[in-house]
Amino acid sequence: MEVVDDHYAFASSLAAAFADPLVLTSTQVLRDAPVFSAPAAQAPASPGTGSLLPPGVTTVEAGLAACVGIIVISFLSLLFGQAMARRNTASGKIMKLAGGEASILIPATLCLYASSGLTMLMPYFAGQFVQMIGSSHGVSTHDLNQVTAWILVVAILSSLTSMVRGALFTLAGERIICKLRMQVFRALLRQEVGFFDEQTSGALVSRLTNDTGTLQNAASTNISMFLRSASSLLLSIIIMFATSWKLTLAMLGTVPIVSILAVVMGQLSKKVSKLYQDQTAEMGKLASETFGNLRTVRAFSCGEELMARKYNAASDDVYKYGRQRSFIYGAWSGVVGMLFFVAFTIVLRYGASLVYSGELSSGLLISFVFYTVSLSGSVAMLGGLMPSFASAIGATTKIFELLDREPMMKDGSLDPVECRGLVEFDKVTFTYASRPDAQVLSEVSFTAKPNQVLALVGPSGSGKSSCVSLLQRLYDCNSGGAVRIDGIDVRELRSDFLRRHIAVVSQEPVLFAISARENILFGVEGDAGSSENMLEAAKLANCHEFIAKFPDGYDTLVGERGIQLSGGQKQRVAIARAIMANPTILLLDEATSALDSESEGLVQESLNSLMEKRQGRTFIVVAHRLSTVRAADVIVVLSGGRCVETGSHEKLLALGGVYKDLVSRQLDMSS
Ligand SMILES: Nc1ncnc2c1ncn2[C@@H]1O[C@H](COP(=O)(O)OP(=O)(O)O)[C@@H](O)[C@H]1O
Ligand SMILES: [Mg+2]
Repeated sequence: MEVVDDHYAFASSLAAAFADPLVLTSTQVLRDAPVFSAPAAQAPASPGTGSLLPPGVTTVEAGLAACVGIIVISFLSLLFGQAMARRNTASGKIMKLAGGEASILIPATLCLYASSGLTMLMPYFAGQFVQMIGSSHGVSTHDLNQVTAWILVVAILSSLTSMVRGALFTLAGERIICKLRMQVFRALLRQEVGFFDEQTSGALVSRLTNDTGTLQNAASTNISMFLRSASSLLLSIIIMFATSWKLTLAMLGTVPIVSILAVVMGQLSKKVSKLYQDQTAEMGKLASETFGNLRTVRAFSCGEELMARKYNAASDDVYKYGRQRSFIYGAWSGVVGMLFFVAFTIVLRYGASLVYSGELSSGLLISFVFYTVSLSGSVAMLGGLMPSFASAIGATTKIFELLDREPMMKDGSLDPVECRGLVEFDKVTFTYASRPDAQVLSEVSFTAKPNQVLALVGPSGSGKSSCVSLLQRLYDCNSGGAVRIDGIDVRELRSDFLRRHIAVVSQEPVLFAISARENILFGVEGDAGSSENMLEAAKLANCHEFIAKFPDGYDTLVGERGIQLSGGQKQRVAIARAIMANPTILLLDEATSALDSESEGLVQESLNSLMEKRQGRTFIVVAHRLSTVRAADVIVVLSGGRCVETGSHEKLLALGGVYKDLVSRQLDMSS
C-alpha cells in the first residue's frame, strides 16, 4: 500500500496489522481514497480478562452467536438483493444478473462476513495483550500463549475465508460479464441497419468492452467492498458502543463532517469522471480513424501531422480532467486524514480520562483506538467507492438501453418453401431515418420476372443503391408503397428467407480477415459447402486461378477487409461468395465500377457468364457499362428518386429522353 500522505504513515502502519490484502490491492480504491483495514465483526469472543461479553456468556456461546449473526446478515443481504432485482432500475438489473450466479455469490457472501468478523477480533486481542503486559499482578505464560494461539487461529481462518471470498467474487464477476457481453453482442446484431447509420462503430465497441468491464467491477469487486465496508462500519460502531458509549459518541462527532464532504466530493468527482470518460472515448475514436485509414492518412503530406495534432489535443483534454481528478482525490485524502486524526486525538485524550476514572480498562482503550482506525477505514472506503458506483451505474444504463432496445423493424413470419424470383417495386416511397428531410425515392415502380435481367441506371445519387437495400430489407419503405417478392411484401417474409434467396455483390466488396476458402464459404452451411461446389464457384467467378497460385492456396489469409488482395481479386472472391450462396435473386450494385479496366474485364467476364446462364435467377444490375445494360431485358431509369423511363435499350433510345442522354454522356465512356 502506498501511503497517500505523510501523516497517514502512523495510522496505516496500525491498520496494516489488520488490513486485508485484497482490499489493499484494489487499485480503484487506492486511487479513490486512503485505505485502512475495513473489518467487520459479529461478537468478539473473550480469550482473557476484561471481557466485553456480558457476565455468564462463554466463548463458545459468543462464537455461535457470531455464526448466527453472519447467517442472518447474509440472509438479509440476499433479501435486499432480491428486492432490488425486482426493480426496473440499473442497479436492479445488475442485481438480477448477479442473481443468476447465486450459487457462487451466496458462499462468497458468507465467507465475506466470516472473514471480516474474524478480522474484527484482532483489535480486541491487541487490547488484551496490552492489558496483560501492563497488569500490575504480572502475567502468566499460559495466558500469553492462550491469546497468541487465539490470534493464530483467527488469523488462519480469516485468511482462508478471505481467500475463498476473493476467488468466488471474481469468478462470479467473470461469469456475469461473459454472459452480458454475449447478450450485448446479440442485441447489437438484432438492430436494424438504420440504427448503425447513426452510431460510430467506435462507440459500439466501447459499449461492448469498456462499459461491460465497468459493470463487471461493480457486480463483483465493488459490491463485495461495499458489503464489507458497510457491515464493518455498522459492527465497529456496535462494538464501540458496547465498549464505551461515551467515548463512541465523542468520537462520532466528526462523522457528520466526513459524510457531508463525502457527498460533495462524490458529486464533484462524478462530474469530472464523466468528462474524463467522454474525452477518452473521443481519443479512441481518433486513433481508430487514423489507423483504420492509414493509407489515406499517408497519402496526404500533412495527414499524419493533422491526425497527430488532433490526437494530442484530445489527449491533453484527458490529461486536464485526469489532473482535476487527482486534485480532488488528494484533497479528499487530506481532509479525511485530518478528521481521522481529530477523532483519534479525541479518543486518546477522552479515553485517558475514562481510564483514570476507572470507567475503562487500558486494554479496552487500546482496542477502541484500533476500532477507530478500522471505522475510519470503512468510511474512507465507502466514500471512495461512490465515484466508481456512479460510473458503473452510468455504464449500466447505457448497456441496458441497448439490451432493451426493440429493433424498429420486426421480422416477418412467412417462410415459403421455394422462391421463384419475381421482384416487384410498387410505388415505393422512401426516406432514410437518419435524414428525415430528404425523400430518396418517390413512387418507384418496376417488375423483374424470374430469369430476367433488370438494369437500374441513373445519375449518381438517384437512388439505385437504395432500391437494392430495400429489396434486401435493410430498410423498410416507410413512406408508402411496397417491395414484393413472389407477390409477398418483404416485411411479411422472414429475414431468413430473404437472406437465403438474395445475394449481393456491391461496389466495394468486403472480405473478412480469414482465409480465401472461409470467405467464399461465408454463410454457407452443411453439404452445400463442399470443396467441389466451392471450386466450381471460384472458377465461375474467375478467381480460382490466382487463389491456386497463392503459397497456401485457398487457405491463404486475405488480411483485414481483404487488404492483401487487389481490388479486382477481392471483387471476384466476393462474386464466388455470392454464387456459393446459390441465390434466386442476385443483386449486382456497380460491381465493376471501382476497378481498373483490366480487372473490370475479368470481373465482367464472370458476371456475363452468370447472366447468360441465368439458371432461373433474377438479376438486378446497377451498371454503367453499356454492354451490360444493353443485354438487360428491362432497363429502369431513375432520376432524382423517380422512375422516369422503363423499357428495352432500343425503346429507350428511341424515346430520346434521360436514357439517351446518359448513354451519350456517361455509359459510352466506359463501354
Ligand atoms: N445510409 C444513408 N443515410 C442517409 N442518406 C443516405 C444513405 N444512403 C444514401 N443516402 C442518400 O440517398 C440518396 C440516394 O443514394 P443512393 O441510393 O446511394 O444513390 P445511387 O446508388 O443511385 O448513387 C443520396 O442522396 C444519398 O445521399
Ligand atoms: Mg450506388
